[in-house]
Amino acid sequence: MARKLLVIGASGLLGSKLMAQAGRTYDAVGTFNPEVDGKDLWRLESLDIGSKEEVDSLFRQTSPEVVILTAAMTNVDACERDQLVANRVNASGPSMVARACKTAGARLVHVSTDYVFDGRKTRRYLESDVPRPISVYGSSKLAGERSVLSAYPAAAVARTAVLYGWNPIEGKENFVTWALKKLRAGEKVTMFSDQHISPTFADDLASALLGIAETGASGVLHASGPDCLDRVECGKLIAEVFGLDKGLVVPVRSDSLSLPARRPAYSCLDVSKVENLLNRKMMTFEAGLRQMKEQEGGRR
Ligand SMILES: NC(=O)c1ccc[n+]([C@@H]2O[C@H](COP(=O)([O-])OP(=O)(O)OC[C@H]3O[C@@H](n4cnc5c(N)ncnc54)[C@H](OP(=O)(O)O)[C@@H]3O)[C@@H](O)[C@H]2O)c1
Repeated sequence: MARKLLVIGASGLLGSKLMAQAGRTYDAVGTFNPEVDGKDLWRLESLDIGSKEEVDSLFRQTSPEVVILTAAMTNVDACERDQLVANRVNASGPSMVARACKTAGARLVHVSTDYVFDGRKTRRYLESDVPRPISVYGSSKLAGERSVLSAYPAAAVARTAVLYGWNPIEGKENFVTWALKKLRAGEKVTMFSDQHISPTFADDLASALLGIAETGASGVLHASGPDCLDRVECGKLIAEVFGLDKGLVVPVRSDSLSLPARRPAYSCLDVSKVENLLNRKMMTFEAGLRQMKEQEGGRR
């Protein structure tokens, strides 16, 4: 019989990819946040992750054997404006899920972020580097990591970075779909020249997370794309792969915009540990973009 998988945050970009891929191996149930309407994709249960009652009742109803926790308050500037909610969703919620997993004896893979680092390094961050978040989002996610591992040391925490891919929910954008829309409309796209990132193809990460769940790995793992690119390089590659005008990509410095939350200037991750664990390479940005282009052909 197929094992029971619970994807918490299945209506998000990463969660939707997990649901799409898990169906082949698992009996999968996903959750969405009841405050948002219009979810008719898979078998989705409503969940407010900040409510212990709802978390416990979800575990009673679904009896999961494997849990992948992708739900989060991911809007970095919104977190800066509402620290209370950010901590409730990104720290308290994961802690309650970890406790429920421990009680149920379920395998847990929790997803975290490169934004736990301050960005002062100039070489890829290792799992052993000390996190020093510079935003509420980063602090709340770090508190989530710590509370998950202290409640349930057998859990795995996968830190990822800048996710992209086709989102199944209309109106939700990520940095690649946003840039593509603008480039296709012949509009200029401003990109930060002083932020180095490891863009991560959500489809590839979903398969890596299912792989991590299958291993008995515990503790922190870095699971992102393998590249380390500034955002202008990213923008130019998007234009190149999709046959659009690279000249529309306009470099700006991040301090030219006054955003509520600070972002690390350098948050590239070293992914060799996860690549060794899974015995495969994480997908490069160029390969991920090419796969998006093929997928788009199939969707038309
Ligand atoms: N996006 C990135 O670039 C990035 C970078 C590094 C790390 N990460 C991490 O990767 C994970 C997945 O990111 P993503 O981009 O797929 O996220 P996303 O598209 O923003 O989806 C977030 C998910 O969390 C759910 N959620 C939000 N508030 C909730 C609440 N109070 N209770 C229950 N569920 C709630 C959302 O439900 P609704 O859709 O119903 O609101 C959605 O299913 C997150 O843990 C994030 O921190 C993301």
